[in-house]
Amino acid sequence: MELFLDTASVKEIRSMWEAGILDGVTTNPTLVAKEGRRFEDVLREICALGIPSVSAEVVATDTDGMLREGRHLREFHPSIYVKVPMTPAGLAATKTLAKEGTRVNMTLVFSANQALLAAKVGAAYVSPFIGRLDDQGQDGMDLVRDILGIYRNYRFPTKVLVASVRHPVHVLEAAKAGADIATMPYAVMEKLVQHPLTTLGLERFLKDWEKVPKA
Ligand code: G3P
Repeated sequence: MELFLDTASVKEIRSMWEAGILDGVTTNPTLVAKEGRRFEDVLREICALGIPSVSAEVVATDTDGMLREGRHLREFHPSIYVKVPMTPAGLAATKTLAKEGTRVNMTLVFSANQALLAAKVGAAYVSPFIGRLDDQGQDGMDLVRDILGIYRNYRFPTKVLVASVRHPVHVLEAAKAGADIATMPYAVMEKLVQHPLTTLGLERFLKDWEKVPKA
């Protein structure tokens, strides 16, 4: 299972990349706006780190505009996956971009039928937003399991990228379900590493080590 950071913060990305546990990055317009910097400057720095998969989202809402932005992003860097929203215009744009060899991440997916359509138009990734479903009283992880089952039935190569992850249990459940990727905020990835018994155990080992004769 691949682990992605859902952030546009170069500092956060660099830190997890250096820790060796990062497989990719997803951004969206909200995350880019938080940085207060030009989109292309941020994207250039992220790609320069050598991250193999970097999702960058189009903001046009019509097919022609999405194609224009998608082609521009694709040319920007070989690691770019073009993020396209799940709308009729987005499906049409994805079909064309995929035929041209662009890897598309279809985003804002909230139903299994939407995910079926994303696979049919050739998306490389589908992004179900599980936290936002949980927020409104639906079990987001049920959607992930449904999508994985449907993709298995028809051997669709589209990877399931679990998005809108809010806590480590989302990551655990996504892994147990067999999702291909989970993208998460920095704070969630940090929590995957930490356990109070690890901290306590290490403290105890180091304390006991002081009692070992050194000469
Ligand atoms: O990148 C898309 C998604 O992960 C956003 O998550 O927390 O805003 O629902 P959230």
